Amino acid sequence: MKAFQGERQMEIKIVALPGDGIGPEVVGSALQVLEACRRRHGLRLEVQTLPVGGRALDEYGEPLPDHVLEACLESGVILLGAVGDPRFDENPPERRPENALLRLRRELGLFANLRPIRLSAALTDASPLKPEIVRGADLLFVRELTGGIYFGQPRGLEVRDSERVAFNTEVYAESEIRRIARVAFEAARLRRKRVHSVDKSNVLESSQLWRAVVIEVAAGYPDIELRHILVDNCAMQLIANPLQFDVLLTSNMFGDILSDEAAMLTGSIGMLPSASLGDSQGNRQPGLYEPVHGSAPDIAGTGKANPLATVQSLALLLRFSLGRDDLAAEVEGAVERVLQQGVRSADLAGGGGPAATTEEVTRAVLDALEQ
Ligand code: IPM
Ligand code: MG
Repeated sequence: MKAFQGERQMEIKIVALPGDGIGPEVVGSALQVLEACRRRHGLRLEVQTLPVGGRALDEYGEPLPDHVLEACLESGVILLGAVGDPRFDENPPERRPENALLRLRRELGLFANLRPIRLSAALTDASPLKPEIVRGADLLFVRELTGGIYFGQPRGLEVRDSERVAFNTEVYAESEIRRIARVAFEAARLRRKRVHSVDKSNVLESSQLWRAVVIEVAAGYPDIELRHILVDNCAMQLIANPLQFDVLLTSNMFGDILSDEAAMLTGSIGMLPSASLGDSQGNRQPGLYEPVHGSAPDIAGTGKANPLATVQSLALLLRFSLGRDDLAAEVEGAVERVLQQGVRSADLAGGGGPAATTEEVTRAVLDALEQ
């Protein structure tokens, strides 16, 4: 899971999947930032933009057409906007836009979802929580992404005794738990050395195995403090006392739910980037980088979308898949300066002051990069 070094002269292929809703707007912003990095540092890269989600359903009748999946498998480095479109709400699961994302995660083996949640000092007032509770919040979700109830068999919807019955299965093999636990402990080593493993072991066998395997893995990391926390209590503690958390290790569904909740620590889900990583292959670290916020169809085309989650996802792409920590830090520094200047998209502006449009925020980031 380490970012690879070297190979700086190699031509890098990146697949951009803008997708639905505000996806094209925020990916557009991030690609402008990438273009600025390319110009400034002579990066050799090629960006291929392809349809996914509802767009692909319109054009090809399926959310992830074969040629798009193949391009993603070949490149291994993907910047995605969002998938999700209410027009397809009644479709069966495999023909919903979201299925594109689930299949991509699965087919590329992207089992480790990293969601850093850091409250910028400039945004302390944007959080709905009291400043003394959230100031300095800095946590990292390490969410298992290719297993659990999202993919478990059996699943289905059928009629039994003349009523409809629906079922899904939470299933984890110990190998799946072990590899995601390792990612969490390794990440903690580079941070404040604490892991909270989230489970529901007072009720679920899958959580009992989760806890047992995490304890086994922890034996190899004596320098890391391991705490176990039940998911319901974790939901409460994230609001009551977020500063106690460093790395949170979760199953697929618990991480989905808790990371949206924790997003509000930063004032807006429009600030949250993510990286979904698989096992590195040779000098290649496959990864899919996307904002956590989703397609937000209600504000698509209005200029209200906050591009910073996607710009920060691009920074993660530079760090992990391109091995360019220096460029990632440059982009993150530019974002921080823009926030310090008081530039606020609609989600962060609240009642006070006029909001900056997607384009204006992007321009501010590009200007900050040149400083
Ligand atoms: C997320 C999203 C996805 C998930 C959806 C769009 C399938 O909510 O990445 O958090 O549930 O994993
Ligand atoms: Mg989610």
